[in-house]
Amino acid sequence: MDRAISRVGVIGLGTMGAGIVEVFARSGLEVIGVESNEELAERGRGILQASTDRAVSRGKLDEAGQQQVLDRITVTTRLDDLARVDLVVEAVPEVMELKHEVFGALDGIVGEDTILASNTSSLSITQIAAGTARPERVVGMHFFNPAPILKLVEVITTLRTDPGVAGAVRGLVQDLGKRPVVIGDRAGFVANYLLFGYLNSAMRMLEHGHVGREDLDTAMRVGAGLPMGPLTLMDLIGLDVCDHIGDVIFGHSRSPLHTPSAMLQQTVTAGRLGRKTGRGFYSYERPGSGTLAEDELTPAPVGDPVPLDAVGVVGAGPLAEELVTRFEDAGYAVTHLTDAAGDLSALGSVGLVVEAQEEGEDPRAEESGGPASVRDVDDLFAELGEVTSVGTVLATANTYSGVALAAISGRPEDTVVLRVHAPTAHGQVIEVGRTRVTSQHTLTALRQVIGRIGAEAVVCKDRTGLVIDALLVTYLNDAVRMLDESYAGVADIDTTIKYGLGYPMGPFAMIDHIGADEVLAIAEELSSGTSGCQPHLAPSPLLIEHVLLDLPFTGGAGRA
Ligand SMILES: NC(=O)c1ccc[n+]([C@@H]2O[C@H](COP(=O)([O-])OP(=O)(O)OC[C@H]3O[C@@H](n4cnc5c(N)ncnc54)[C@H](O)[C@@H]3O)[C@@H](O)[C@H]2O)c1
Repeated sequence: MDRAISRVGVIGLGTMGAGIVEVFARSGLEVIGVESNEELAERGRGILQASTDRAVSRGKLDEAGQQQVLDRITVTTRLDDLARVDLVVEAVPEVMELKHEVFGALDGIVGEDTILASNTSSLSITQIAAGTARPERVVGMHFFNPAPILKLVEVITTLRTDPGVAGAVRGLVQDLGKRPVVIGDRAGFVANYLLFGYLNSAMRMLEHGHVGREDLDTAMRVGAGLPMGPLTLMDLIGLDVCDHIGDVIFGHSRSPLHTPSAMLQQTVTAGRLGRKTGRGFYSYERPGSGTLAEDELTPAPVGDPVPLDAVGVVGAGPLAEELVTRFEDAGYAVTHLTDAAGDLSALGSVGLVVEAQEEGEDPRAEESGGPASVRDVDDLFAELGEVTSVGTVLATANTYSGVALAAISGRPEDTVVLRVHAPTAHGQVIEVGRTRVTSQHTLTALRQVIGRIGAEAVVCKDRTGLVIDALLVTYLNDAVRMLDESYAGVADIDTTIKYGLGYPMGPFAMIDHIGADEVLAIAEELSSGTSGCQPHLAPSPLLIEHVLLDLPFTGGAGRA
């Protein structure tokens, strides 16, 4: 084990460096922060004062405690002041030459056994280490933004890193009250590698007109329960930073999942870098503000109320029951046909029919006293097209093709797919899969009905997985691939995503929660289904293995 770390240096007191200084000082370490000139040093002191003031006002620190924290911090402009520190964390801008300059200068200043760490998000630690005379003392120490809040620190080792150094840094991270994940050097490490595959897939949906800006973010924040939608997150990170990190990851993976997006490059070239410039995917009140401003892409209000008071539900399972209750609670007159094979004429006067039969149920079950009969969905939609009047919205809440049913019903402008998602901490989403000819009346009516039953509508093209399943399963499959490549284990990947990105659970906990067979089925469809043949989305062999052998990923036998 390396020597104890009690005095640390942090170089660069910008977004990350100032937060890292605070983390160290709040856990009792003596910290020397270095900036490039006196003006920036003063700005760094100001950031630390303001941040600890906020901690006091929120009751996380008392005034005496704040003074003790500030007394542990020295801010200087002289690198030489780091001569006696045990650890240096570099947090200067993401430019290799700058990192080499800093590490090269440290060679002549710090003691031989000082640990040298970089907070880089995307540069190779191996390459950074090549800029010092002591690569065995170098690790990555990747804090997440905001450093005082997010609990994860990725500790990145290279082939040359002394195991004692990695052990000492891991121990320090634990002493800081954070979660260390020790991994090898690879583009994007764990968190950004998985995050950027997902962000790129989401951005491509926007670029291809699959879904609109607001609906895309609602899908992932409300529908999947993530802390924020992908476009909001990219605007926060900075689109130039996203472009850069995306390039680094694509340079390593060469996967179509990471192919740089022309839309992102154009947005960056146009000077729209996200919140910091006041315009990115969204517009903000002013540069630096997080408050949205309307712009030419802001959707118009949902429109005049569509007269729709009566709803029909066809099917007898739990989904049908849930929908009936929700519609009734919202004040709709509901006609519930549990026997889908019976007479449908009672649906002649409703404004919306939702088919919600239990999928895969054996139609002969009725003969043996089982639930009411299930009907072939093609027949059902053909007949619904006849018994209901033009303008009545026809929807399936099952995973059928909306495009096929639109053709079969003979009323393509009225026919859609609905996908009811389980509620998350942020609410509930019902996705609406539309075809090219779905009418505006149908979409307006559905947005209003979905809003009235307490959920949020997300409208997208009717393609495999719509928005939420397509993005989640692609990301989950990517995590399984990372595991299969032995880059990181189940627990480390789950910890990284949960504590670094603030997701409600890690990918492997999520796969076990959804069911690996279900994830596999969607992954298979995504690679060959209605989104076109996309071999790079093919299920990971390890996912198939877990399904065939019925192994969970988390806990017990499935743990890797
Ligand atoms: N911003 C994030 O969300 C985030 C998250 C994780 C990691 N990172 C990584 O952290 C590092 C810093 O990013 P940031 O967002 O804090 O950048 P930043 O631009 O906000 O801060 C960098 C600071 O370094 C200072 N600096 C530049 N050269 C210096 C020198 N020679 N000596 C001392 N100070 C110097 C600058 O004046 C500036 O204050 C980058 O490698 C970045 O990839 C950023």
